[in-house]
Amino acid sequence: MLYPLARAAIFQLDPEKAHDLTMKNFKRFTGTPLDLFYRQSVPFKPVHVMGLSFKNPVGLAAGLDKDGECIEAFGAMGFGFIEVGTVTPRPQSGNPQPRLFRVLEAEGIINRMGFNNHGVDNLVENVKKAKYDGIIGINIGKNKDTPIESGKDDYLICMEKVYAHAGYIAVNISSPNTPDLRSLQFGEALDDLLSALKEKQAELAEKEGKYVPVALKIAPDLTDDEIVQVAESCLRHKMDGVVATNTTLERGLVKGMKHCDEMGGLSGRPLQHKSTEVIRKLYAVLKEEIPIIGVGGIDSAVSAREKVEAGAKLVQVYSGFIYHGPKLVKDIVTNW
Ligand SMILES: Cc1cc2nc3c(=O)[nH]c(=O)nc-3n(C[C@H](O)[C@H](O)[C@H](O)COP(=O)(O)O)c2cc1C
Repeated sequence: MLYPLARAAIFQLDPEKAHDLTMKNFKRFTGTPLDLFYRQSVPFKPVHVMGLSFKNPVGLAAGLDKDGECIEAFGAMGFGFIEVGTVTPRPQSGNPQPRLFRVLEAEGIINRMGFNNHGVDNLVENVKKAKYDGIIGINIGKNKDTPIESGKDDYLICMEKVYAHAGYIAVNISSPNTPDLRSLQFGEALDDLLSALKEKQAELAEKEGKYVPVALKIAPDLTDDEIVQVAESCLRHKMDGVVATNTTLERGLVKGMKHCDEMGGLSGRPLQHKSTEVIRKLYAVLKEEIPIIGVGGIDSAVSAREKVEAGAKLVQVYSGFIYHGPKLVKDIVTNW
């Protein structure tokens, strides 16, 4: 009810300033009666995926709360799970501003943030402090100045540090805003990364006495053959989940619109069908063996259902949440 009003005010601001201000308010309101601005009760719709029990299947996608600063606020909105990050071993400031743009007409967002974050140690402290009864996924990446040939080491460093504190770990090799990152999605580089991650997971499972699932987050800009290859590689290495998809480089559906030519990844409604098709093609290979977390352009209960019909077991939202607010979470869960 309130969100259209709040949005009208927030959208007057530059997108990154709007994001920072909103997050600051979430932090201030947490634990006070002012959280009534976004607190809502959402039906209990438990699902069991990757060996974990989710109180409902709707999650916050990575990148909105990169440092895990507002987990409780998102929890109050009813998210069944919250994926924080992408986090890198060392803090980094990301790309120069401006780096975040609204494509209003299409309910899209273009970003080239470049993994701005305060580093993995800071994130772990925030996750430890958070009072949230849902599942926290931690999304990990590599620092921009780590050469791609040693990118694997950054993932292993992050994995080691987050393992004990994560419900699941998402490995992001699909951001278009870190040079060469997406080359890790292919051939030997992918096999090599997945086998190192699984080896580290086995070692940490033994050490920590708990098994934390590891999911791979992939781009939507893969050919059909590449989708099959990624899926087969995930099966070979017994990955625990696939998050599909990240943002797209394609601009076909936003041609001529304001900001459409900004560099970076496009998300939101223009990504909706593309990511659903990737999920469908992945599912054709993964079947029921590896669950898919569907993300990309979900802006209603109907578009969430399309992801499920294509093969997703859980869904996540980012851009749709910016355009529609917390009500989107409740709508999707209620109609699940
Ligand atoms: C501003 C912005 C920042 C993002 N940062 C990350 C990130 O750090 N890590 C990541 O895996 N995905 C990131 N994403 C991608 C989202 O998690 C999601 O995969 C994508 O936006 C598609 O979902 P949507 O259409 O609901 O936004 C980001 C998206 C946006 C819009």
